[in-house]
Amino acid sequence: MIDSADFLKILPDLAKAIPQNGVVTVLTGAGVSAESGIPTFREARTGLWEKYDPAELATMEAFLNNPKLVWAWYQWRRELVSKAIPNPGHLALSALEQHLNQDTEKFVLITQNVDSLHHRAGSKNIIELHGNIMREVCLDCYQKTNSPTSMSPDGEIPRCSNCGGLIRPDVVWFGEQLPQKSLDLAWQAARNCDIFLSVGTSAIVQPAASLPMIAYQNEAIIIEVNINQTPLSPYVDFVLQGFSSIVLPKLISRVWNIKMISFSKNDEK
Ligand code: OAD
Repeated sequence: MIDSADFLKILPDLAKAIPQNGVVTVLTGAGVSAESGIPTFREARTGLWEKYDPAELATMEAFLNNPKLVWAWYQWRRELVSKAIPNPGHLALSALEQHLNQDTEKFVLITQNVDSLHHRAGSKNIIELHGNIMREVCLDCYQKTNSPTSMSPDGEIPRCSNCGGLIRPDVVWFGEQLPQKSLDLAWQAARNCDIFLSVGTSAIVQPAASLPMIAYQNEAIIIEVNINQTPLSPYVDFVLQGFSSIVLPKLISRVWNIKMISFSKNDEK
């Protein structure tokens, strides 16, 4: 493992180790959207699960017990997401995809985030493991819709236009299976890559946390971008400690020679 308090010192060695034409798989978590103003889950003080109890808000049981509370919480999160804009970390990943996926598919982005910020940054080859907060699904007929509704002012829960069933946000709740197709594609992408990038995830929530380990077993080069150490850190080849909005543009422009527009004054340094 190569680790340094100053990630810039690692970049030259990293650039030498990375095959420019290698297949890249990226796994992102809440940290990549933190600088867009969307709270993460487990960080002290600011993490959502520090303030809210997932058992009351993110399980099917909670929804059936108190759908108004659950809907109100998701509407609040939707508002945050709607106001947020992709940050330089999202944009750098999108630039890397454009660079690598010109002729053949050499870049896959797996995300645990439900906020659509990767889509809005221009990424295309995205696997959403935990659903999407802007989509909805009917509890009864499973019809999915992309146009978010909301509770009526007097707290009526949205109903399905097809069958009248209760509608819920199309996200994965605790105790639920991940969408099988997304999981299969994610597994395949982890198995088949030369370079695996884990960005802004605490790397503890399964099954996503197994993806870098699969890449590791298949001898991919593993790079972690995070402001903190995680349980994955001891297994990775390069730990780049820092904010993803700063590290990703530097990493991607240095290794793949992609000209990145300058996002902030600090980028000039
Ligand atoms: P976590 O909140 O568990 O972890 C966020 C990680 O991002 C932490 O390791 C932080 O150190 C790191 N981080 C924070 N800001 C950062 C920044 N600017 N740059 C780089 N790293 C930063 O979020 P996830 O790992 O995404 O699932 O959590 C996984 C799943 O747990 C979520 O998808 C959600 C949650 O329960 C469901 O809701 C199903």
